[in-house]
Amino acid sequence: MCGIVGALGARNIVPILIQGLQRLEYRGYDSCGVAVHDGSGLQRARSTQRVSELAEQVRTEHIQATLGIAHTRWATHGAPAVHNAHPHFSHGPGEAAEARPGRIAVVHNGIIENHDELRAELRAKGYAFASQTDTEVIVHLIDRLYDGDLFAAVKAACQRLRGAYAIAVFCRDEPQRIVGARAGSPLILGLGTGEHADERYLASDAMALAGVTDQIVYLEEGDVVDLHNGRHWIEAPDTAGVGHVRVDDAQRPVRTVLAHSGAAELGPYRHYMQKEIFEQPRAIADTLQGVEAITPALFGERAAEVFGQIDRVLILACGTSYYAGLTAKYWLESIACIPTSVEIASEYRYRDSCPHAATLVVTISQSGETADTLAALKHARAQGMAHTLTICNVATSAMVRECALAYVTRAGVEIGVASTKAFTTQLAALFLLTLTLAQTRGRLSPEDEARHLKAMRHLPVALQAVLALEPQVMAWAEAFVKREHALFLGRGLHYPIALEGALKLKEISYIHAEAYPAGELKHGPLALVTAEMPVVTVAPNDALLEKLKSNMQEVRARGGELYVCADADTHIQPEPGIHVIRLPEHYGALSPILHVVPLQLLAYHTACARGTDVDKPRNLAKSVTVE
Ligand code: M6R
Repeated sequence: MCGIVGALGARNIVPILIQGLQRLEYRGYDSCGVAVHDGSGLQRARSTQRVSELAEQVRTEHIQATLGIAHTRWATHGAPAVHNAHPHFSHGPGEAAEARPGRIAVVHNGIIENHDELRAELRAKGYAFASQTDTEVIVHLIDRLYDGDLFAAVKAACQRLRGAYAIAVFCRDEPQRIVGARAGSPLILGLGTGEHADERYLASDAMALAGVTDQIVYLEEGDVVDLHNGRHWIEAPDTAGVGHVRVDDAQRPVRTVLAHSGAAELGPYRHYMQKEIFEQPRAIADTLQGVEAITPALFGERAAEVFGQIDRVLILACGTSYYAGLTAKYWLESIACIPTSVEIASEYRYRDSCPHAATLVVTISQSGETADTLAALKHARAQGMAHTLTICNVATSAMVRECALAYVTRAGVEIGVASTKAFTTQLAALFLLTLTLAQTRGRLSPEDEARHLKAMRHLPVALQAVLALEPQVMAWAEAFVKREHALFLGRGLHYPIALEGALKLKEISYIHAEAYPAGELKHGPLALVTAEMPVVTVAPNDALLEKLKSNMQEVRARGGELYVCADADTHIQPEPGIHVIRLPEHYGALSPILHVVPLQLLAYHTACARGTDVDKPRNLAKSVTVE
């Protein structure tokens, strides 16, 4: 999704801006741009192609400067087109929209909800609009409020903006200054180090500044920051909400951010998604590192006290993280015997539900910045549910900062838009949560604890055995490449795995895929089954196996072609119309972590065979920071 980089120093900072955009590319974008103050005025380059093309433009146009801002845009208001790409420039009232040079330059992440009202107001004052974006109202509004002090103008503009934003702004008349502001979208401040200690940076994500600085200040809701060469000044909304007051360094401490060393190398892999699938044994091992015993302390200092006060769990998440939550519901109810509901965050945040103070609210998020999940968390809290915990892959994310308790998974940076290693590490963390709540509720004997921990520690080895099945999955992918539809079936604990398999296939291969609990077949989806419909079936050797076999017969009787991921001891034999990949022995409650892997590989190889942009599928973004 959209990304921001800004830099101010004494040297040419354009390479910092371009490299920052390149580090944010994985989030997904459809246009990009850079604007600088070159000492005499504003210069800009924009592109609807890759950042590498923008870099070429910048090079051929000799764009160099000590101050600039840059952006990757994921279109919301207005098509992906050069005139809609950021940065946007203001033009004085009465000036033609195409007039150059502009006065104010802005990049923006988020959505301005009152853009129609502001556009009408600014048009009436003589401002002409050059784009269809909501962002352009910000730049003209700041221009309108500008009276020689950019910081004051941005603060005044923020009072008028409704919705979500992170912005970086500079002005032709103040060539040594960048102003940033955030409300609802993340923005960080970076401080230069060593011989560049006077440099200051802004970014939507610390990763954009990897290799430039590890000294980061996380701006908070409503913060406005003024950057000059060598110093910065942060103000936050006052308690009355009508002005701003200075916040000191203790309130916004500088943190040293480790492990954001930039875009990982691809190594021998064709795509990041493939690399990330194969990283799963290491990611799970890292996530479980240091877990010697089941104890509430795994989730934070106050976890023992909190876990003793709750009698139910509410899980909030989106997409793949939601499916991790659905899987956890089976574990939490069967092993810890604690009532659990799982809600899609974008639905929960707007619906009337029945709050219950003794609820443990669990958010699950790879990025920790998903706007809907953050809003759902705030909604739950506003309803009096104060016990919050997050399972998240980014230790410095808003989600971790917002929740009282956390388990940070150690999947490492996930670049591919299709989530893989984040999902399996979320499952590992959720299983730990299940065991911990079971223990708190007197439902985990020392023997069971030892047995489960042993199985968890063996997961990396078990995953390697499943990854070795890749050549067989590739053979399946050759059949899927010609299909436009697919059906995924699972039962019980593996129904969410069928859902995740279908999501993976649709998001990167663009094949329409649906998942059903196999018992639902005859209540509707069986009507879709013909010889043209591949039916992927998740078949562990669990208590529902015989039921599942009957469902498979229903498919075969209608000519449907079955692709079965079966545990070795299920006795499901390959025959015409039934293709079988055998997983190792049944892995008990942890089986979903193994069974999802062939489905990830199936989606990956089918997408490769169809020639799609696997790591950056059309229309999708890695981190969904707008509603
Ligand atoms: O960062 P999050 O886990 O909060 O993201 C949630 C979803 O946007 C994400 O899982 C999405 O569904 C993935 N593209 C799925 O592969």
